[in-house]
Amino acid sequence: MRSQLPLFPEQASTLAGQVDALYFFLIGVSVFFSLLIAGLVIYFAVKYRRRSETEAPPEPAAPAVTLEIVWSVIPLAISMIIFAWSASVFFKINRPPDDALEVYVVAQQWMWKLQHMEGQREINELHIPLGRAVRLKMTSEDVIHSFYVPAFRVKQDVLPGRYTQMWFHPTKPGKYHLFCAEYCGTKHSGMIGWVYVMAPQDYEAWLSGGTGEGTLAARGDKLFQDLACTNCHKADGSGRGPSLEGIYGKTVELEGGQKAVVNDDYLRESILSPQAKIAKGYQPVMPTFQGLVSEEQLLQLIEYVKSLQTQKVGQ
Ligand code: CUA
Repeated sequence: MRSQLPLFPEQASTLAGQVDALYFFLIGVSVFFSLLIAGLVIYFAVKYRRRSETEAPPEPAAPAVTLEIVWSVIPLAISMIIFAWSASVFFKINRPPDDALEVYVVAQQWMWKLQHMEGQREINELHIPLGRAVRLKMTSEDVIHSFYVPAFRVKQDVLPGRYTQMWFHPTKPGKYHLFCAEYCGTKHSGMIGWVYVMAPQDYEAWLSGGTGEGTLAARGDKLFQDLACTNCHKADGSGRGPSLEGIYGKTVELEGGQKAVVNDDYLRESILSPQAKIAKGYQPVMPTFQGLVSEEQLLQLIEYVKSLQTQKVGQ
């Protein structure tokens, strides 16, 4: 029935039903009180209408304490229900499961560029397997965009100079609209695409038809060599820059006594603005790579540094 009456997009993720349930509850509460108030306005207008030209209004009655309490406590209870319910949905939307499949997204006027860990790259299309949570890590080359898939009920701003993330767990195979939901220039309305949710075996087949360029980490590795990062960042720590082996996720000491956690934002900053945070015991000699590496390449480099981590742990 819903497909004939397209008031609502299809529900195609585990979050969709929860978002809709909350939304319908809010609509229900609003409709109930709108009707109640409008009905009472009309009823009282008739019941307490002025009956003659000479009729004077009665003296105001003393405030009814019980009534005051009732009409304060009931709305308070309703708003607390809305608060607790929304908060629980909000936390679910913002906490991706640990085993989620990761895909990187770079927005640019006016297209979506997506990179899979295995190396596949897509433009304005995202292929994902059914039955698995997917986490998108997103950034922008230029202005603010917003990644929006109505069928999954998820929307997240994509910002330049920062990583944002979103996740969803598709529940139905199919083809779903992807939109940019933040006005980003002339062709904003054309910044659209499709998310393809495929049966796992179809997805495997799709993956194996790859580009042959290697995984994201492998491409990062190559870039690391090409940009001559290896001259200073030697694995044994004897170079002019710190060794990057196993560094991801660690807390490092900085010159000046502060500490920083090595995460995506730290690595991005260290590549683009190397002087911003200097690791303790090292000289500020690294040149900036601003303008030399694209956002997509930054993600490859980050993925490479992460891969050094997993090799180190040996799992
Ligand atoms: Cu990108 Cu609107």
